[in-house]
Amino acid sequence: NWTMDSFSEGAIEQIKDAVKDKKVIMGLSGGVDSSVAATLIHKAIGKNLHCIFVDNGLLRHNEKTQLEKRLGNNLDMNIRFVDAAQTFLDALKGVTDPETKRKIIGNEFIKVFEAEARKIPGAAFLGQGTLYPDIIESKSAFGGPTSIIKSHHNVGGLPEKMQLKLIEPLQLLFKDEVRKLGLALGIHEDLVWRQPFPGPGLAIRIMGEITAKRLDILRQTDVILLEEIRKAGLYRKLWQSFAVLLPIKSVGVMGDKRTFAHCVAIRAVTSNDAMTADWARLPHDLLGKISNRMINEVEDINRVVYDITSKPPGTIEWE
Ligand code: XMP
Repeated sequence: NWTMDSFSEGAIEQIKDAVKDKKVIMGLSGGVDSSVAATLIHKAIGKNLHCIFVDNGLLRHNEKTQLEKRLGNNLDMNIRFVDAAQTFLDALKGVTDPETKRKIIGNEFIKVFEAEARKIPGAAFLGQGTLYPDIIESKSAFGGPTSIIKSHHNVGGLPEKMQLKLIEPLQLLFKDEVRKLGLALGIHEDLVWRQPFPGPGLAIRIMGEITAKRLDILRQTDVILLEEIRKAGLYRKLWQSFAVLLPIKSVGVMGDKRTFAHCVAIRAVTSNDAMTADWARLPHDLLGKISNRMINEVEDINRVVYDITSKPPGTIEWE
């Protein structure tokens, strides 16, 4: 791919020129943007790039292992994995308000990231996977929850506090170009085509309080959902597809026993840019299969509903 090859050559030269023999630190989220940006910076400066991946305990099943496999091992990249799951859980104890969850998660992230960054002496730059639309969006008043992302992903306040200069090699690219670039750089296609996943993670897909137990239930249903969506060949056609754990229990019957257990909502949407979205017309048989599997395989689930709300008036996430 000529365009992406010449783009990456130019970008690598620019990064080398700017960074010289200094160190760059960078947060990896497991998503496409930060992975592609890190790979590009790594090509330019190798071991002088120090990545930090914070496990906030709100990730999906296997997220960290997959990132390690798809990025770390191949590239021999410096990645520090920080297990901060308990810290986040403690901070979120008893919290049910969506925006408060976001604020707490954002603040904890900055604390953990900053503490880790301080262990890398001599860092002069902070790498970020900012895209062109991110720059436009952060200047627009119509932000909604997405404007909060910026404060997570951009580690608000950190560059100034630690006197780091920003390095954003993707800032002229759109998402589809970043995917092309990622493939050209040899990043695994599963990572390149990963559906977006919000910074606050599963916290905003658990209505009500976040507990280890509820996270576990949601993770199990999420695995089933994604497995079936992939099997049906729909993963890339959907903008996002995920499970939401509802704060209610309902009565059911299993075998000859009455049950009183949790309810899960399936959310699947098509979209181009997340500003608007349409609920996906998933085949009924597929929905049936997902529902059966969730109820049979996940303890404490006895009801599954399908969300048929578009955006607007709904949002993609439930919180
Ligand atoms: P909504 O729910 O507002 O979501 O329709 C639009 C897109 O943004 C993602 N999203 C977030 N991403 N931090 C993030 O990093 C957040 O707080 C956040 N809230 C929503 C959502 O997954 C969708 O892709």
